[in-house]
Amino acid sequence: QWNAYEKIDYVFKVVVIGDSAVGKSQLLSRFTKNEFCFDSKSTIGVEFQTRTVTIKGKVIKAQIWDTAGQERYRAVTSAYYRGALGAMLVYDITKRPSFDHVARWVEELRAHADNSIVITLIGNKADLVDLRAVPTEDAIEFAENQGLFFSETSALSGDNVDTAFFRLLEEIY
Ligand code: GTP
Ligand code: MG
Repeated sequence: QWNAYEKIDYVFKVVVIGDSAVGKSQLLSRFTKNEFCFDSKSTIGVEFQTRTVTIKGKVIKAQIWDTAGQERYRAVTSAYYRGALGAMLVYDITKRPSFDHVARWVEELRAHADNSIVITLIGNKADLVDLRAVPTEDAIEFAENQGLFFSETSALSGDNVDTAFFRLLEEIY
């Protein structure tokens, strides 16, 4: 059976990184399957999922890689970053330490990924407004200083998830 998506113009590898429990895997399943799971288990090793999208008339297969935020469950770093054109660096807006660690994740990216990688900083769990511990302005300032894109998202409600991924993919293109 023929389908239009069999003709793929480009495959873009995107990696998702950030501390454990910030919602990396749920952002991925929201973007690729439009699903969300409340009792999501910690990722062990590496997984990836794909979604095929059309950008400026080209069919692009986004191959999104997900690994554990916890050091002991992480896969070999250089293999994970190899060939990545984009990165989603995720923190949880209700957990200040997950934002304080973002600088370290940027260092890891600069050490292991290609220089031209496009990075988006993501403040996830934006639905938990009453528990906010990271002001949006702090994240905007950090993103501007480091030359990153920035969005706040909610994998739970789906707010901004597609927008953030599409913006990253368009920037790679
Ligand atoms: P590791 O695999 O351990 O690195 O964690 P992770 O970053 O992949 O976190 P995961 O996606 O497994 O989500 C952790 C917890 O946060 C789960 O209980 C999710 O249901 C919850 N969660 C994820 N995204 C959101 C969100 O946008 N809003 C709310 N309220 N909860 C979320
Ligand atoms: Mg995970």
